[in-house]
Amino acid sequence: MKNFWDKSQNDDDNERLNHSGFDICQKDSPPFKLKPPLHVTNRERRKQSMKGQSITVLRPGMVLMKGYISSADQVSIVKTCRELGIGDGGFYQPGYSCGRKLQLKMMCLGKNWDPESRMYTELRPFDNSKPLGIPEKLHDMVEKAIQDSNEFIRENVGGSNEGKVIPNMSPDICIAKFYTKSGTLGLHQDKDESEKSIKKGLPVVSFSIGEYAEFIYGETRAANEAEKVILESGDVLIFGGKSRLIYHGVTCILPDTAPASLIEATNLLPGRLNLTFKMF
Ligand code: SIN
Ligand code: MN
Repeated sequence: MKNFWDKSQNDDDNERLNHSGFDICQKDSPPFKLKPPLHVTNRERRKQSMKGQSITVLRPGMVLMKGYISSADQVSIVKTCRELGIGDGGFYQPGYSCGRKLQLKMMCLGKNWDPESRMYTELRPFDNSKPLGIPEKLHDMVEKAIQDSNEFIRENVGGSNEGKVIPNMSPDICIAKFYTKSGTLGLHQDKDESEKSIKKGLPVVSFSIGEYAEFIYGETRAANEAEKVILESGDVLIFGGKSRLIYHGVTCILPDTAPASLIEATNLLPGRLNLTFKMF
């Protein structure tokens, strides 16, 4: 029988994989994969060619950009998150000291955010791993989304722009969440960033990829008074300025709604990937 010191490099690799973060993709393609029916492929092509893009101001400081992330970028984001997520500092299932686990997997880039203490730290307390950096491409996409939303506001929203445009920011935090089919997130405010960041209304920028989510938001913690919106794969939601401290949450994930082409290109597991960017 081998003891610890007899372990080969292979054993080490296996151990690392077993103990490392959760993989958001299936490792192997299913043996028999049916092509999506023609009407599904055509619908996706139509969406793609129209870019399915539209921008709506939901309330001052809160902008929904439907279909903003191209299909190719959605694929590359899933692949990037997978690569980062299975290594050190990758996806894990957060839980509370009472033993309750959240129905989602999480990975922080830039800074670690601890859901129990609600504090940002340089290292992740339970394994001392250092969060990886935010890939430059994602960083640029966030800045571009803020610029595009402001361009839309300037051109389309009447009256003075005062209090309507969204402050620019350069994200140093990215929290990636992978919601399983039963994943939800209670109504909460994002208020653990610096006082300065919140006071300035530096926006929270959120990317949705995979299955759709029912997302609720409102002035108060009362879920029955909240507004509802569906976040689809490729949507970007921004809330900053006057909406920076809006209450928000995810009530459910809509099963089997992820674009077939995304699943085919990535083998993404059933669920929803959300990336939330902020500046501390
Ligand atoms: C969050 O508020 O942390 C994530 C929201 C989402 O998943 O859309
Ligand atoms: Mn939040």
